[in-house]
Amino acid sequence: MAIRESKRWAAVDAYVVDTLFEADDVLEQALADGEAAGLPAIAVSPSQGRFLQILARSVGATRILELGTLAGYSGIWLARALPPDGLLVTVEVDRRHADVARRSFERAGVADRIDLRVGPAIDVLALIEAEHQAPFDFIFIDADKPNYAAYLDWAVRLARPGTLIVADNVVRDGAVIDADSTDAAVQGVRRFLDRVAAHPRVSATLIQTVGSKGYDGMAIVLVTS
Ligand code: SAH
Ligand code: DHB
Ligand code: MG
Repeated sequence: MAIRESKRWAAVDAYVVDTLFEADDVLEQALADGEAAGLPAIAVSPSQGRFLQILARSVGATRILELGTLAGYSGIWLARALPPDGLLVTVEVDRRHADVARRSFERAGVADRIDLRVGPAIDVLALIEAEHQAPFDFIFIDADKPNYAAYLDWAVRLARPGTLIVADNVVRDGAVIDADSTDAAVQGVRRFLDRVAAHPRVSATLIQTVGSKGYDGMAIVLVTS
């Protein structure tokens, strides 16, 4: 990838932030706290955060599920899409990440709308099903890529017709088309996309993205029945 191109994508993302978004100390602080605690800088970009928020609002989501909390950056965007009595269940395997996220949610004033679960997502998803909660209206898959196919099955199981499922990082600089890739993340998203394609109850597309996070993409999966 030409460096000149990725610089331009990042510059346009900065322009989007300057032009369309209000300054937001709470979101900035979540990223800064994550960095200070040594967490990887892999949160969604501001434009992607707003995109997720708009999608969640568009489906009138009152119950949102997120897999992969990190420092709570995308979680704040999603929680702010909710009405006051709405709920974001967000799942994080790493206690250090969850501790940072908890502070981020409190600072953002959305902690009352968030159920932060610490543990491997597969285990937590089984617990959630056992709790017989109401279906989720919007689901954001952003945890470990090798488990994405399993997360799709769980997402559909915890959904209703009309639920929107979004999965992050499914293009991976274009590596997704390499069937022989030795990268476990690439193979994970390929299995996920094959599972999506084979699923009888979803309609899906994949939107490629460029920006401050480089070249990647999100799968958009609507549960139809
Ligand atoms: N959604 C966040 C970024 C998530 S990064 C944002 O955009 O702000 C991916 C996160 O998934 C990391 O915090 C990682 O610890 C977590 N994760 C990795 N494997 C997991 C698993 N098996 N279960 C739950 N979380 C997991
Ligand atoms: C990684 C994970 C993400 O969710 C992301 O958006 C970017 C990178 C990673 O594990 O490297
Ligand atoms: Mg991601």
